[in-house]
Amino acid sequence: MCGIVGYLGDKDVVPLLVRGLERLEYRGYDSSGVAVVDGGLSIVKSVGKIKSLKDRLDGRRFPGRLGIAHTRWATHGEPNDVNAHPHTDCKGKIALAHNGVIENHAALKKLLLAEGHRFESETDTEVLAHLIERSLPGRTLGEAVSAALQLVEGTYGIAVVSADHPGTLVGARHGSPLVIGVGDGETFLASDGAPLREHTQRVVYLDEGEMVVIDEAGYRTFTIEGEAVDKQVDELNWDLEQIEKAGFPHFMLKEIHEQPDTVRNAMRGRLLREEGTAKLGGLNLSDDELRDIRRIVITACGTSYYAGLIGEYLLEEYARIPVEVEYASEFRYRNPILDEGTLVIAISQSGETADTLAALREARRRGATVMGIVNVVGSTVAREAGRGVYIHAGPEIGVASTKAFTSQVTVLALLTMHLGRLRVLSQAAGRALATELEALPGKIEKILAGAPAIKEIAVQMQHHDNFLYLGRGPNFPVALEGALKLKEIAYVHAEGYPAAEMKHGPIALIDENMPVVFIATRDAAYEKVMTNMQEVRARRGKILAIATEGDADIHALADYVIPVPATHDAFVPLLSVVPLQLLAYYMAVQRNCDVDQPRNLAKSVTVE
Ligand code: G6P
Repeated sequence: MCGIVGYLGDKDVVPLLVRGLERLEYRGYDSSGVAVVDGGLSIVKSVGKIKSLKDRLDGRRFPGRLGIAHTRWATHGEPNDVNAHPHTDCKGKIALAHNGVIENHAALKKLLLAEGHRFESETDTEVLAHLIERSLPGRTLGEAVSAALQLVEGTYGIAVVSADHPGTLVGARHGSPLVIGVGDGETFLASDGAPLREHTQRVVYLDEGEMVVIDEAGYRTFTIEGEAVDKQVDELNWDLEQIEKAGFPHFMLKEIHEQPDTVRNAMRGRLLREEGTAKLGGLNLSDDELRDIRRIVITACGTSYYAGLIGEYLLEEYARIPVEVEYASEFRYRNPILDEGTLVIAISQSGETADTLAALREARRRGATVMGIVNVVGSTVAREAGRGVYIHAGPEIGVASTKAFTSQVTVLALLTMHLGRLRVLSQAAGRALATELEALPGKIEKILAGAPAIKEIAVQMQHHDNFLYLGRGPNFPVALEGALKLKEIAYVHAEGYPAAEMKHGPIALIDENMPVVFIATRDAAYEKVMTNMQEVRARRGKILAIATEGDADIHALADYVIPVPATHDAFVPLLSVVPLQLLAYYMAVQRNCDVDQPRNLAKSVTVE
């Protein structure tokens, strides 16, 4: 959360930085700002989305070749102009953009105030600008940043410039990602590759505890303590088209519609249909090591956590391995029982979620075998896990995750087949899974073709402020995910429940004003779900059912029916979730909500 861009080069600095911020806006959009070294230091900031910063800049031109910019997701201090980054020192000569949390900021501020420093904002970040100011006499900017950071506890990705050092841009990372973009006669710094893609393909990922000094000569990397480190230059494999909207009104809708392709990409080159298994190159574990796994713990946050819950059903049912799924934020502070027979899988779209990363580190510290299921190539979870499977969904920009979810579940299905075939799954059963997996993209396309009917249902349901989502078996996590989508983007209260649990509480809420979304596909739980639907019907609840195509019985019970093609029981969630994504999307549009940037949320939560 929070996005940073920095630039040193010949291009017009401010438009370049603002464009870069737009690419990072998914990381937060409470306020934004730019600082340019142009003889002195010019800073323009604005509360609200980047659009308001652009209005405030109003086409003004700034000389100068060096600048930094920031888009904020507020942690300390409400979103307003003063708390917007970049922040400065007392003399207004140093400007700093920060992503993360300075945990000992209160103690540092006390010390700095006692020394006579004056503060303007309520942010934790401002202490860092003053610490650098205090460290500067007799040092280069890089040395001063290094000295200041050694006093700091917490997390940071920072970019720093100074009017007195007009050719230097300093970046440092501890807990929040930072990438250097290497161009011809120009160098970039950013929170991820999105702002760099249109300028260069060559990137260097800073690792934890590293910093960079960028100047006319290029860039030099160090540890925060000042020891030089050699870094490898990587290729950024992002297609520019993938980070544009391609004619869709919102990124979320585009990403929902990409799912036939992204599910296909997740299995491309991995599915071995004849053998009924999957080949997962990044696992780096021998068949014997995989057979030695006695237990799996999946840890993740948000939508990735729900994908993990579906993974639990798949892995237990088809690979017969005991699985636990745990919120990363809980896991990291428990005293989990782990050993080398436990495989800990961290699932993260961004690969930067602070809690997931901390859970991964804790698992490794305790001797578990760890792996990642990650989308963003080169992200921290991917690199620190050392082994894992990329989902290859391409950049996901909409804050509410959609295509990453179905790709994560697809990869969990592949992993299930691979582990299952090493244990209990027959070739025939594996082949049945593989054949059906291959058919899923076409079936998702069919659901997407029904989007206008789902839009019509959203139009009719748009004024309801409470929803219940019910499902059983692997459709229970789908109920949770459907409810989460509606909360996130349409600001409608929605709860996901196992359908049978409804009787133990939520049923008290049901009357003619309470819409209940049932995931009632023809799978092992079908009859039971139908009984639960009767119970709602008897209390005059309004029923929307996600049902298998051709199910005539359901119309007698449900007010609205959205059909999905029939599939193997294992893969029902990969289809049943798609109409729920569309329903949330159209509800949000009807309610005039900001679909791609819902209030208070951020795509990448890099603070705990
Ligand atoms: C945020 C996003 C969610 C996402 C969650 C986990 O809350 O808004 O869409 O599911 O973080 O993110 P990750 O990148 O770790 O999957």
